[in-house]
Amino acid sequence: MAEWDALWVNVHLATMDEESGYGEIRDAAIAVKDGRIAWLGARAALPHRRAGTVHDGEGCWLTPGLIDCHTHIVHGGNRSAEFEARLSGASYEDIARQGGGILSTVRATRSASERDLFEQSLPRVHALLAEGVTTLEIKSGYGLDLDSEAKMLRVARRIGRELQVRVRTTFLGAHALPPEYAGRADDYIDMLCGHMLPALAAEGLVDAVDAFCERIGFTAAQTERVFGTARALGLPVKLHAEQLSDQGGAGLVARFGGLSADHLEYLGAEGIAAMAAAGTVAVLLPGAFYFLRETRQPPIQALRDAGVPIALATDCNPGTSPMTSLLLAMNMGCTLFRLTPAEALAGVTRNAARALGIFDDTGSLAVGKAADFALWRVDRPGELAYGLGACPSAGRVVLGRQPRP
Ligand code: NIG
Ligand code: FE
Repeated sequence: MAEWDALWVNVHLATMDEESGYGEIRDAAIAVKDGRIAWLGARAALPHRRAGTVHDGEGCWLTPGLIDCHTHIVHGGNRSAEFEARLSGASYEDIARQGGGILSTVRATRSASERDLFEQSLPRVHALLAEGVTTLEIKSGYGLDLDSEAKMLRVARRIGRELQVRVRTTFLGAHALPPEYAGRADDYIDMLCGHMLPALAAEGLVDAVDAFCERIGFTAAQTERVFGTARALGLPVKLHAEQLSDQGGAGLVARFGGLSADHLEYLGAEGIAAMAAAGTVAVLLPGAFYFLRETRQPPIQALRDAGVPIALATDCNPGTSPMTSLLLAMNMGCTLFRLTPAEALAGVTRNAARALGIFDDTGSLAVGKAADFALWRVDRPGELAYGLGACPSAGRVVLGRQPRP
């Protein structure tokens, strides 16, 4: 009987298991048993054990599988016409106030069948998986009624079952006010808290709860009510915070012990201090910053100084970030926000896992963790943040298994 199920040799490891740098181990080996990492280290120190399968890594770098910790990847239709309108001068907020923006995707998502929604989402998901993504967060928030939110979340669960990727679902019912509640935002929040969220949670469709705390979204008071319901249901929270203005959202989500505050271009000193004290991760979304032609930078150096963990994600969505490349998000994190390539890789591995509350299980290479890997034909790990449109992936491993390409 083999003592290990599988062993990779002739690889260099970037374990990402320390608080800075890559945790490099050159000429290494990594062994898997029952889907978990059973041993890792320099090949010269490899104990003599039998392995079911021995994989020759051909000199590739092996990192933790990448984690896209903020996406709206399940949605109907696209917003290319809105993109053209914005380039002619209309603002994202103006378009939203006129009933376009998020609400136009709500119309397309409501009218799509569950199967159609799955099929429309597939090419986007495949693009991420081709880049070594092994964990994917998927938000609802384009349904805004019980049946349509449930439809989105079931599609997300199906992606997790059928595509060999770990999926974490986030309920984002407080994303926009649906047209049938126009002028009655508090009534919508009553319905969300009293009915929609408890029903979806009871069906096991919700891993975390998010909201859009913004002038064109919901107020801090309304967001707080959503968080109160999440807490009562035992669900962790996160927040779209300070994307277009400072609404105090980061401080609010930190008060609830939130997993993450996301976007953060307008984040101020109070919010940073609250996040640092609560251990709330800053999720930066350079795709949305770029696509909205935002000029105000998130306060990166202040976040670093305060010791707030920084993650990066695609924010894949049809309105502000129609992006299906996490490697490009890493590059943008470096070029637009001046992250280092090591910070960018930490942002899509260990800190992305923290932003989803699953760092015990994945996000770095350590004995006992899930055997979720990405293999790369690169000379050094910093090269992952370097290319624009390059895909040096040499495959993925999920729970010790190599998915079909
Ligand atoms: O993360 N800001 C709110 N939510 C999304 C955009 C949604 C949309 O425009 O469809 C975001 O940027
Ligand atoms: Fe988002």
